[in-house]
Amino acid sequence: MAPAPSSTTSAITLNINGEKHHLSVDHRTTLLDALRERLDLTGTKKGCDQGQCGACTVLVDRRRVVSCLNLAVAAEGREITTIEGVADGDELHPVQQAFLDLDGYQCGYCTPGQICSAIAVIEEHAAGWPSAATDDVAAQAPPPLTPEEIRERMSGNLCRCGAYVSIVQAVSRGAQAHEEARTAAAEEAAA
Ligand code: FES
Ligand code: FES
Repeated sequence: MAPAPSSTTSAITLNINGEKHHLSVDHRTTLLDALRERLDLTGTKKGCDQGQCGACTVLVDRRRVVSCLNLAVAAEGREITTIEGVADGDELHPVQQAFLDLDGYQCGYCTPGQICSAIAVIEEHAAGWPSAATDDVAAQAPPPLTPEEIRERMSGNLCRCGAYVSIVQAVSRGAQAHEEARTAAAEEAAA
């Protein structure tokens, strides 16, 4: 039975991949440890545990965060997506499929974080957010998602196997699929 809330613990509800999870946590518990140790969602990986490698990246309200630097109590009421929640049933997310098709991994340890990060990167780029590699940050249209843009935007996710060439290709392919889906949805809405 979960311990009663005290001055050092809180009863919280985390909304993860569309499911509510009730748990009592020490206030110092990171979101990463809550996911892995308390909820058995071990797809999210612990690498450095210091915010430096990106292995623990998840989406909170559709934006990427390193879950080792976020407290579980601060994630209450937010929409959390982990690698376990990005597919649509048996159908892989286009970014997952691209990583698979293009060998965007070797040992796979960094891959859940890479994929979560890539999903958010593609949305950030489509929304017109510039990066440090963007030539014209004042331009209204999103910059082309060049390899340089992808490398800069994904630079918080390290891969110790060095699978970067394939990762860049997979993110590019995922972005294409995202754009095609957006165009198809716009055409359907206009028909
Ligand atoms: S484990 Fe969180 S950034 Fe490395
Ligand atoms: S695939 Fe092994 S760490 Fe990236």
